[in-house]
Amino acid sequence: MMKCLFPVAGYGTRFLPATKAQPKEMLPILTKPLIQYGVEEALEAGMKNIAFVTGRGKRAIEDHFDITYELEDQISGTSKEGQLDSIRGLIDQCTFSYTRQNHMRGLGDAILTGETLIGNQTFGVILADDLCVGKPDGVMAQMVRVYEKYRCSVVAVEEVPHDEVDRYGIVSGAEMDARHVRVERMVEKPAPQDAPSDLAVIGRYILTPDIFDILRDTAPGRNGEVQLTDALQTQAKNGKVVAYRFTGQRFDCGSVEGFVAATNYFFNR
Ligand code: G1P
Repeated sequence: MMKCLFPVAGYGTRFLPATKAQPKEMLPILTKPLIQYGVEEALEAGMKNIAFVTGRGKRAIEDHFDITYELEDQISGTSKEGQLDSIRGLIDQCTFSYTRQNHMRGLGDAILTGETLIGNQTFGVILADDLCVGKPDGVMAQMVRVYEKYRCSVVAVEEVPHDEVDRYGIVSGAEMDARHVRVERMVEKPAPQDAPSDLAVIGRYILTPDIFDILRDTAPGRNGEVQLTDALQTQAKNGKVVAYRFTGQRFDCGSVEGFVAATNYFFNR
C-alpha cells in the first residue's frame, strides 16, 4: 500500500496576515481545513500512511490529526458531536508521521527530506493548496489506476490559460491517448514565450523511489531551489513519466481567487 507525502513547510505569504501565526494548510474551506481535504483524498486512494514534511509554525497540523480529549469530552452527547465525525474517521483509519524541514530549498528538497518517512517504495504526493474535486472519484485514486497500468511516475495535468504558464511546471510529450501523455519535456515556471505547451502540472504526483537519488543529483533550478520538475525531467529522459489529464475540478487555493471559488463551490453544492 502506497504512502502519501504532504509537503507543508511553506510560508503562505499570499495569505498574510491570516498565515502569520497559523499554517496556510489550516485555512478552512467552510468548516474543514485545506489539509483535511487532501488527507481525505489520499485515504480514498487507499493511502493510509500519511507523511508530513513540516516546518516551523506548523504544529496546528499535528494537533488537528490527533484526539483533543477536553473538547471531545465537553461536546460528547451534544448536537455538536457529529461535527468531529470526519476528522475522527481519519484519525481512526490513518497513521501520521512527521519530519521537519529546517531550511527552504524548494519542493524537490522537501520531497527529499521526506525520504526518511517513505523509504524505498512508490508513493503519492499531495500539495494541499490544490484542492481537487475528482469525478467520478478522487484525483489520487484515478492516478493510482494510471500507475498500476504504466508502473512509472505519474503527474496530474490540466490546460491553463497561456498567460498563466509561468505559475506551473509545464509538460509536453507524445499523446498516448486522450488522457495520457508520455512526458518528453518538463519546465518549471517558463515565461509564456518559452513554454512547450499550456499543459500544467497540478499538485498531485505518484513518484517511483528512484526520484530520491535523482533529486540528490539535481542542481538548484528556478528561483535557486531544487525543483521536483527538473528531477522528473531527468526521470522522463532516462525512463518514463506519464502525465495524466484527470477528470474533475481543481481549485488553486494558494491564491485568494481560487480560495474564494472553492468556498463558493462547497457552499453551493
Ligand atoms: C509547485 C511546483 C509546480 C506545480 C505547482 C502545482 O509550484 O513546483 O511545478 O505546477 O506546484 O501547484 P508552487 O505552486 O509550489 O510554486
